[in-house]
Formats: sequence, structure tokens, C-alpha cells
Amino acid sequence: MSKIKIFDTTLRDGEQSPGVNLNQLEKLEIAKQLERFGVDRMEAGFPASSKGDFNAVKAIADTIKGTSVIGLARTVKSDVDIAWEALKGAESPSLHLFLATSPIHMTYKLKKTPEEVIDTAVEMVSYAKQKFPTVEWSAEDATRSDWNFLAQIIERVIDAGATVINLPDTVGYTTPEEYGKLFRFISETVPNIDRVNLSCHCHNDLGMAVANSIAAVENGATQVEGTINGIGERAGNAALEEIAVALKIRSDFYPYETNLKLNEIKRTSDLVAKLTGMHVQANKAITGRNAFAHEAGIHQDGVLKNASTYEIITPEMVGVNSNTLFLGKHSGRHAFKDKVNELGIELSEDKLKEAFNLFKQLTDHKKEVTDDDLFTILMEIQTDTSAVEKYKLEMFQVQYGSANIPTATVSLKTPAGKPVQTACTGQGSVEALYKTLDSLIEEDLKLIDYQINSVGGGKDALAESRVQLVVNGETVNGRGSAQDVIEASANAFLNAVNRYLVQKNSSALKQVVKS
Ligand code: KIV
Ligand code: ZN
Repeated sequence: MSKIKIFDTTLRDGEQSPGVNLNQLEKLEIAKQLERFGVDRMEAGFPASSKGDFNAVKAIADTIKGTSVIGLARTVKSDVDIAWEALKGAESPSLHLFLATSPIHMTYKLKKTPEEVIDTAVEMVSYAKQKFPTVEWSAEDATRSDWNFLAQIIERVIDAGATVINLPDTVGYTTPEEYGKLFRFISETVPNIDRVNLSCHCHNDLGMAVANSIAAVENGATQVEGTINGIGERAGNAALEEIAVALKIRSDFYPYETNLKLNEIKRTSDLVAKLTGMHVQANKAITGRNAFAHEAGIHQDGVLKNASTYEIITPEMVGVNSNTLFLGKHSGRHAFKDKVNELGIELSEDKLKEAFNLFKQLTDHKKEVTDDDLFTILMEIQTDTSAVEKYKLEMFQVQYGSANIPTATVSLKTPAGKPVQTACTGQGSVEALYKTLDSLIEEDLKLIDYQINSVGGGKDALAESRVQLVVNGETVNGRGSAQDVIEASANAFLNAVNRYLVQKNSSALKQVVKS
């Protein structure tokens, strides 16, 4: 069995998914789970792209010690310098430099000749190598590049000090056979290729990202890049959990193994789905709700007689446990703390206390509190930055009836601590509520997206709402849960506004510190 390194880019390429907007604490929470999952490398972000990304990469590099943390940079000195500032606290600081090599990108985007592209790549890899022990170089749009040109530039960047060479299928254009041949060609043509790890990075535009990645591995790739749940730009990236399980289940055919702990898959997938708001489709391989469900009678009968009749993967292998009752009204603080630990969430004593109080409130209304319910509460508490003064919901009331005009009355406390109250009408109860909130909040608000879901099943299920708002021109996401759908909707709306205030506050603080 040869070892394949897993490079996770959920926090960089995955975070580039439309509508995804993670704050620093959420990124850190995902990074900790990726470490538990056993990824070899995690790409924490693109430090030069924004202050928020810089801070998140720095926090992750300073915290995560069991996995190598890497940051993305363009082939410009300032990007490399900024990335170094963010990553220098990491155990083994690593940089990911990319430059396009396809005729389309070189002509229209870079406006550089192939010779100029080689010179830039070589110069920047040498520059980066003065600071970073590990430098990965990516030939962006490799699959639409000339193979001989690729071989030439790769040889030069390896001589300049690159330690990993990545051949991304940036636009999801290639096919398994073609991508495999490209890896074989590069492995056999580039004379110094044995000095580096060869990496694949696939996008899913034609639905072939996982198959393409495995074809690369069969033809010389020693590293696979991808994201949890396959999130990413456009149709997303290769789903790492699918690649890992395919290699494991078909180990009779594939002589490769990874360091991933497969029983952490479900937990990792749930965390990423909850924090990004990108739900996994029910029929998705490995992590979809229906991945282990058997509907047809003939299948159910077979599975009852012997699970292997229709099940090639056991739910336990990927960490899927039945989401049954875990704690109830009479559960004490101790049992609660044990369960929090079991879910892999680290909370400070204060946050644990807050979570326990919320859990107790929930048991007043809900007989059976499931792992999913608890996870929802914990994530809200864990990723909340309470140091900043925010809007607080004091009271709300919504009147709705088929013969009435929906009307909402809301009382809030503003960040300055001032109580405010008003009432508005709308076409429906949520519209009335949101119009009322909008009129009480000083910021300029525009609602872009609104979703409401139940957490698990049952009449007493928790409601979880997600919104996307544009606050003073900046897009922010919010989520909120409650027993009632209207209350969950109000919480999500205020959560988005408060997240905006936290972000604004942290940028303002940085300005003060800098000046
Ligand atoms: O898809 C791509 O080409 C990338 C590069 C930055 C490696 O994500
Ligand atoms: Zn990519």
C-alpha cells in the first residue's frame, strides 16, 4: 500500500463557494475538526486577499500543530510576504503559489508570454523558498495547458526549490483517462520529478472530480486535494470523503491508503455543512441522509438477512450513528459535558455553562434532545463573539391569521443598550417580522436569502433558520435556532447583523492597533 497525502482546501477553495462566509471562530472550529479527521495538509486561506483571511490563517497556523497549515499566494512578492506574516507561527510553514500555464490564461488573463510565465514562476518559487520550508507550485489550468510546456516549467520550478507540484483541473474540464495520462507523462518526462510530491486538484464541472483524482493517483499523484462535501467554486471540488472511502472499500483494486480517520467523516461533514450553510444533498455518496437508507422492500429484506447484500459501506465506518435520544430533562452537568466532548467540541467553562442552560431550556419543550439538536446549540454558542455589544431581542409578537393583516411587534436592545420598540405589517408573518426588525436597526439592510429547516424529525423538532443579508454593502450570513420557526427566523436575522458588527469592530480595532 502506498501512502497518499490528503490536502484539504475546504477553508480556501471551499470557502470560495457562492454564499459561504465563515468567520474566524468558525474557520478555527473546522480546522480543529480537520486535524482530528487526519488530513496531512490544510489550506487555511489566502492571506493577501483580505484582512479577515489573514487573521483566520494566522489564528489557524498558531493553533493547529498536528497538521501542516498552508496559505495560498499569487506569484507576487507582497503576497508571499503577507503569507509569511500569517504563517510564520505554524509548526511547518507552507506556501501554495499558483500561476496559470494555459494559452487562454496566459494570453487573456496574465498577458504574458510563456517565457515570462516561466521566469515569474521560477523567481517567486526561489523567493518563497527563502522563507518557507515547503513550497507547493500550481500550474493553474494545467489541463488546458500544453504538456511539453508544463514539463519544461515544472522542471525549472523544481530546480528553484518547489517541494510539491500541483496540476489543477481548474475548470473541471478533464476526463479520468486524459488526466491519468497527463500525470503519467509528467512523471516520465520531467527529469527531477522524483524530488517532489505530485498533486492533483480537481473541480467538478462535469461531475468527474472524484474519478479524475483517483485516475491521477493511479498514474503517479502522491497527493490529493479536495474539500469536505465537495464544496467549492461553481460545481465544487473533489469530495475528499468520497475519495478516501473509495480507496478503502476498493482496496482490493487500489493499493493506496491515506491517514484519514474514516469514522470522523460524518462529524466533519456535518460541521462543514452547518457552518457554511451548504447542506448535503440527500442522495450524496457517503454523507447524504439517504446514503444508508433502504426504501425498496426487497432491499430491506436483504439487508435484514445480511447487510452486505445491499450495503458496501457500513454506517459505522464513516461515523454515522443512529441519532437517537442522548440526554433528557434529568440529565446533569456531568453527562452533558461528556456528551459535548464526545461530539468533539471544546468549550470554555463559561460557554459550557451557557450551553447547559440552553440545553435545560430546550428540555422544557422537547422530550428527546438529539445529537443534532445539541450540535446546533453548541455551534451557535461556540462561534459567537460575545465581546462586542450587539442587538438583543427582548420580546417579539407576531399576529397571523387568514383574515388578518400579518403584524409584528418587536422590542430590541440596541448595541448602545437603548430599548427600542415598534410594529409593522407585511404580506406574511416573516415579512412583517423582518420589516419590523429592519426599521429598528440602524444599519442599511437588504435580505438576499432566507431558509428554514427542521433539525431532525418529530413534531417538537428545533427550527433552524439561515439568512444572507447585505449590511451596509457587505454580505453576511446568519443562522438561528429555536423551538418556533418565527423565533428562529428572528434569531438568524439578528445573528447576521451582529456578525457584521463583530467584523466591523475587529477591523476597526486592527486599524487602531496599526496606527
Ligand atoms: O483550481 C485551481 O486552479 C486552484 C488553484 C489556486 C490551485 O484552486
Ligand atoms: Zn481550485
